[in-house]
Amino acid sequence: MKRRSVLLLGTLGLAACSAEPPPHEPTYTNRLRIPPLADSRKSADGATEFALELRADGRSSFLPGTVTTTWGINGAYLGPVIRATRGDRVRMIVTNRLPEVSTLHWHGMRLPARMDGGPHQTIATGATWQPEWTIEQAAATTWFHPHPHERTAMHVYRGLAGLFLIDEPGGPDLPDRYGVDDIPLIIQDKRFSADGALVEGGVESGTFGFLGNRILINGTYDPFFEARTSLVRFRLLNASNARVYRVGFTDGRPVRVIAGDLGLLERPVDVDRVKLSPGERAEIVVAVRPGEQLLLDSRGEDSSTANDIEEEDFPLLKVVGAATLAASAALLESLGGAPATPPPAGARVRRFVLSGSEINDRDMDLSRIDEVVPAGAHEIWELDNTTYAHNFHIHEVPFRILDVDGTPPPEYQRGPKDTVFVPKKATVRLSARFGTHTDAVTPYMYHCHILRHEDKGMMGQFVVVAPGTEDRVSRSLPVAHTHHD
Ligand code: C2O
Ligand code: CU
Ligand code: CU
Repeated sequence: MKRRSVLLLGTLGLAACSAEPPPHEPTYTNRLRIPPLADSRKSADGATEFALELRADGRSSFLPGTVTTTWGINGAYLGPVIRATRGDRVRMIVTNRLPEVSTLHWHGMRLPARMDGGPHQTIATGATWQPEWTIEQAAATTWFHPHPHERTAMHVYRGLAGLFLIDEPGGPDLPDRYGVDDIPLIIQDKRFSADGALVEGGVESGTFGFLGNRILINGTYDPFFEARTSLVRFRLLNASNARVYRVGFTDGRPVRVIAGDLGLLERPVDVDRVKLSPGERAEIVVAVRPGEQLLLDSRGEDSSTANDIEEEDFPLLKVVGAATLAASAALLESLGGAPATPPPAGARVRRFVLSGSEINDRDMDLSRIDEVVPAGAHEIWELDNTTYAHNFHIHEVPFRILDVDGTPPPEYQRGPKDTVFVPKKATVRLSARFGTHTDAVTPYMYHCHILRHEDKGMMGQFVVVAPGTEDRVSRSLPVAHTHHD
């Protein structure tokens, strides 16, 4: 079977939504929006404080001549980019101005469970939540988004997400001037009605939930980016509800990958395409010549082997080289990313069977602790997918992919990660070294990051506890159950 083209799908796939105009051929006429860097201030106790406000009153302009009501963090759509350095003590002052309860989760961050912003750290309308922690992990592109029980898909779809960049002193010489040669690319698919409103059909229904027909990057439709340096670093985040992208250049030149979800690779790796399922990140470095035009796009997989979250083609971004470019430092052969430490002989193996939207035949239950992990444990987590495609994200812990159906992952996916694509019917094994923030009564989450699946209950909870105390941990939590459906 042949891949479907999104240009066709716009009209065919949406008989029910006749008001929706089909996407046209890309013209790349909109300048790529660069989310602002978040302001911070030093508090009296030495912490770096960031104030974040979740808002529902955004007025955005995505398609020409229309205004779209959106949600945003400190702005109309998406959030500011938070930038902090390893060793910093950070405090987040998060205020919920939404008409409903939410949370804010630091995806990819190692921190105490109480600070994680998962479904237990709710923020009522009008309330402020102030988590704080010390950044104790390597340079990486992490992100943040709401994680309310059964409502994550809608909150993210309406616009609540942002990047959190961690710098580290003494790293390799890479493009790092934000907005100049260090550029975020937050990739999301959407649908719009004729009047410009976000189409929400599918966000809370269907097998995979929402699948859009137009791409926004940083909230810009049909974008171009003007490069002014000979090397540009792009930080890619798939912040879509369900869509999987395979990002590459239309002219077939290789993509040079320098980092995955949680930091630098050992060395740059050239690939044809970078595959990103929801929640995954990659950093790439692109060499640009004066006046050159490059097109980034996403190419689907063949539908005989893929699910419909990975089949379609999309235009993404035109990169235009300015007439004169500032010379960038040459990219180093060695990036200094840490090599993987193999799991020790006899490492504990935990097995997770993924079915339609359950893990080990159970739906998410906020009051149930599914797994108890001793602090510092180095374990193998085995994901056995019995059905269609999923992915899998674990809070707190950077992991390495050991293998997919027995085959090691491509080199560009061998760095530290927090989210992994799990192809249909595949078995994926992970090597995970857990941290040392213990808390027997506050769990971290693991879940499918296809947001419809997450909301339907494809999630479990684990606590990290002092080694030797596992048997004394209560497996049930006193929590009030909230249901939206
Ligand atoms: Cu990005 Cu538990 O989520
Ligand atoms: Cu997370
Ligand atoms: Cu899933």
